[in-house]
Amino acid sequence: MIRINAHYLKLQASYLFSTIANRVTEYQNAHPDQEIIRMGIGDCTRALPAACVDAFHRAVDEMAADATFRGYGPEQGYPFLREAVAKNDFQARGADIAADEIFISDGAKCDTGNFQEILAADLTIAVPDPVYPVYVDTNVMAGRTGPFTDGRYENIVYLESTPENNFIPELPDVPVDLIYLCFPNNPTGAAITRDALARWVDYARQNKALILYDAAYEAFITDDAIPRSIYEIEGAREVAVEFRSFSKTAGFTGTRCAFTVVPKSCMAWDENGGAHKLHSLWNRRHTTKFNGVSYPVQRAAAAIYSDEGKAQVKAIIDFYLANAHVIRQEMESLGFTCAGGRHSPYVWIDARMDSWTLFDRLLSETGVVCTPGAGFGACGQRFIRLSAFNTHENTKKAMARINAAAGRITG
Ligand code: MLT
Repeated sequence: MIRINAHYLKLQASYLFSTIANRVTEYQNAHPDQEIIRMGIGDCTRALPAACVDAFHRAVDEMAADATFRGYGPEQGYPFLREAVAKNDFQARGADIAADEIFISDGAKCDTGNFQEILAADLTIAVPDPVYPVYVDTNVMAGRTGPFTDGRYENIVYLESTPENNFIPELPDVPVDLIYLCFPNNPTGAAITRDALARWVDYARQNKALILYDAAYEAFITDDAIPRSIYEIEGAREVAVEFRSFSKTAGFTGTRCAFTVVPKSCMAWDENGGAHKLHSLWNRRHTTKFNGVSYPVQRAAAAIYSDEGKAQVKAIIDFYLANAHVIRQEMESLGFTCAGGRHSPYVWIDARMDSWTLFDRLLSETGVVCTPGAGFGACGQRFIRLSAFNTHENTKKAMARINAAAGRITG
């Protein structure tokens, strides 16, 4: 008899962003004349940088001629992209990362979700709360958690990120093996200082733990004192894997390209205490289950490291950060306490009520879609997230609508 992976039955009924999309579709069907402004999922709205488009076109032309056509590429990514990443994203900032420690993939969502597969099933995991749901759900699927009771899964250590700690969680007070960190944070937008990040690296080294560091939003950091990579911290090569993405950096949400950094000195142990390189295990998994990102997409991604690509990416990031500034300023002027929006495209807003209630009120009173914080965990229960991925016009329009309906929304 075919049987299911029963751990799937512990999952919440649907993935957060699918639930939101369904609720918005239901509302739109019932109110076809209402113009919806989507500030929920962090999906880019600006076109790809021109340098990427040019490189994309040229690569498609190469695929159109027998002499330059390419079939399967290296599963880990083409050297031209791995080298550009290592040089520009890491070595240029003093982080000792080599090209062959970079694994090109089709998304940080997939990689952050898949990485746990090469680790033992009985690890204790620690996740931030609020948290990008992928880290939790994939560990539920793998059977590392107990059931979901009172808004939390059993056997997970939740690292609470609250206004009291400026959304930077404290070190766990119980031993943990696998730690998920995300900075600039999704959903709170909080950025971590070098000293605070160094405390996590030290913790991992002292406890033989592993940090899975999601830096998908590093392009939004505007202060050079803030680390863009965990490898800017001494000792991180031994205890951290980092995930990056071209999605939010260069509008690749639909084009799909990302990468994971697995340093060759990063080890994990077997039950007899034998040390193993995570690089070798991830390489083994990657070559078995993944056949590489398409050649034109990798060429397009590599173009962000050209001079014109860098300037175009910066202009796009500045564009979204300007929206984030407007959102934060307007929401604060209405009396809401906000975090994020400074080194992040997300503004995390104290809803002062249940987050789904504010979600419903915003949708019905203004047609603006937010992400209810409850979907990110218990600590998000009374927060909402607004995304700056939009046009300036829509951002201003959304804020004007919220302003006009403020009494009905907060009342
Ligand atoms: C988000 O809105 O949190 C992200 O867009 C989701 C993702 O990157 O998968």
